[in-house]
Amino acid sequence: MTDISVIGLGAMGSALARAQMKAGRSVTVWNRSPEKAAPLGADGAVVAETAADAIAASPVTITCVKSHPQTIDVLRNASNALPGRTIIELSTGGAEEAEELARFLEGAGAEWMVGIINAYPHMIGGEETVLSVVGTEAQWKAHGPIIKTMGGASVHVGDQAGTLAALFAALFTVRQGFMWGMIYGALACKKAGITMQMFSDLVPISMGMMKPYYDYFATTAPGAKYDDPPATMRTYAAALEDVLSSFEALGARDELPRLFVDMAHKGMAAGLEDKALTAVIDVLDKDGPD
Ligand SMILES: NC(=O)c1ccc[n+]([C@@H]2O[C@H](COP(=O)([O-])OP(=O)(O)OC[C@H]3O[C@@H](n4cnc5c(N)ncnc54)[C@H](OP(=O)(O)O)[C@@H]3O)[C@@H](O)[C@H]2O)c1
Repeated sequence: MTDISVIGLGAMGSALARAQMKAGRSVTVWNRSPEKAAPLGADGAVVAETAADAIAASPVTITCVKSHPQTIDVLRNASNALPGRTIIELSTGGAEEAEELARFLEGAGAEWMVGIINAYPHMIGGEETVLSVVGTEAQWKAHGPIIKTMGGASVHVGDQAGTLAALFAALFTVRQGFMWGMIYGALACKKAGITMQMFSDLVPISMGMMKPYYDYFATTAPGAKYDDPPATMRTYAAALEDVLSSFEALGARDELPRLFVDMAHKGMAAGLEDKALTAVIDVLDKDGPD
């Protein structure tokens, strides 16, 4: 027996296996294409012949292949080894597929945790690296140390397998909001003859103002505490209208600033002009999709 098994030895799975070995755990590995297991074998991992052998070798198996359907395929072919084992699925995947995987494992007599890795392979094992993981409290207590070996700042986000995809969508939307903000910002600068260097130098200074907003969302949105904001929705709407006018005056495409203005107007139309801009969350929630 070994302490832990890892199935899927691509760039990420190999990094996960190495982090466990570095932490002093004995590791069994398996990969569909056997040649990827050889370097880990040379460094002391036990190389299993089949996925079922890998699962049988340890109480806990980490899976990191393409996505949940591929994990289900691998596990289905190894189902005789599953009863009594814990599978920690770290392949990225969608909500329904995560739920399907969880139900499959429960049916097969195995316990499960599902996680999303918010990092590149070279960051695995870092103190600030985050894996967001779902599973029961008891599993987090039992397997948290294994997970924190791979990401020191990892978090437990409940016990519903499907919520991880929503969390990923939320965090990716924030990052992409930044990227698309940069793209439209760069477009305005280009049209106005402002250098990209000037723009790039000023973005971090401008973004510094956003730091308090991380807490602001956590303190206002849950209880709908939108009164007495530092800037009201009316103030934001006016500023956003000015931004849109600038894009129009530059002859620039303006889909993003137009979306901002439309959303602020939605909040104003709901009678929230004196409230915080974050009150729009509740307006959109009640609205549902178009
Ligand atoms: N790389 C990153 O930066 C990163 C970051 C966060 C999350 N992730 C997630 O980690 C997972 C793995 O990514 P990766 O970067 O390691 O990808 P990768 O280097 O392309 O490796 C993919 C792995 O999946 C295996 N695989 C694919 N289809 C399979 C199947 N049908 N049956 C069995 N094994 C199969 C491959 O086996 P073969 O060797 O036989 O092809 C290989 O071990 C993905 O879900 C990815 O989204 C990656």
